Amino acid sequence: MTLIDRIDISRLPKHVAIIMDGNGRWAKKQGKERYYGHQVGVQSVKKVAEAAAELGVEYITLYAFSTENWNRPKEEVDAIMALLIDAIAQETPTLMKNNIKLEVIGDIAQMAKENQEALKNVIEKTKDNSRMTMVLALSYSSRWEITNAVKEIALKIANNELKPEDITQETISCHLNTKKYPDPDLLIRTSGEYRISNYLLWQIAYSELYFTNTLWPEFDKESFYEAIIDFQSRERRFGKTSEQVCIK
Ligand code: IPE
Ligand code: IPE
Ligand code: MG
Repeated sequence: MTLIDRIDISRLPKHVAIIMDGNGRWAKKQGKERYYGHQVGVQSVKKVAEAAAELGVEYITLYAFSTENWNRPKEEVDAIMALLIDAIAQETPTLMKNNIKLEVIGDIAQMAKENQEALKNVIEKTKDNSRMTMVLALSYSSRWEITNAVKEIALKIANNELKPEDITQETISCHLNTKKYPDPDLLIRTSGEYRISNYLLWQIAYSELYFTNTLWPEFDKESFYEAIIDFQSRERRFGKTSEQVCIK
């Protein structure tokens, strides 16, 4: 039985979030510069997006560049940005062909103006695509996002548009960049690191976590299927007992 045959299509995660890590280490292992890892990592994005769309996953959210990644050497930051923008522009026809919508979360204002424009163009062009939404987390961090949400909510209170006693969990969710998306069912992190690195902290409250030693440039369709199979072996209890969840 092949891996894909072991996937139960009726129980797919609706939203998969991925921390794409390990590009630099992979390149070093090949005796190459870190940049080469980022370049090959783009191919993994293509493979995973295709696998997810083919299966019928509705949303994938990919951590492409964190707020903290701005602190890397300037040459690496510039190289990653150029690579990202080129890849997005180059892959726009594929997104259109595969009916995939591209959206972005993060502090895009930090990016160079021409890169912001390039992103806006692709977002606009793919906005009516409906098979899957691919969200890129760019210049993103959860604490940045939550801080912004708090500021917006505080402003509404100051303007008498909202009362403190009316704040619910939904109020907070609705002020996050991810307000249009369901919370991730599954979070994948590659490269053998067991941390969240400031990613979707609020949204992953009940996500299933999957860690793999595979470095991102080596992560392919089969690796994605393995993560889905593992996810399908879990029992999601959301605080209840097993007996309550499995009504036999
Ligand atoms: C992930 O790979 C890509 C980004 C963070 C942009 P890394 O560049 O973090 O690779 P490692 O973790 O150093 O191997
Ligand atoms: C997390 O990877 C961010 C992205 C994958 C874009 P990092 O490589 O930046 O995370 P840390 O520094 O190991 O926590
Ligand atoms: Mg890393």
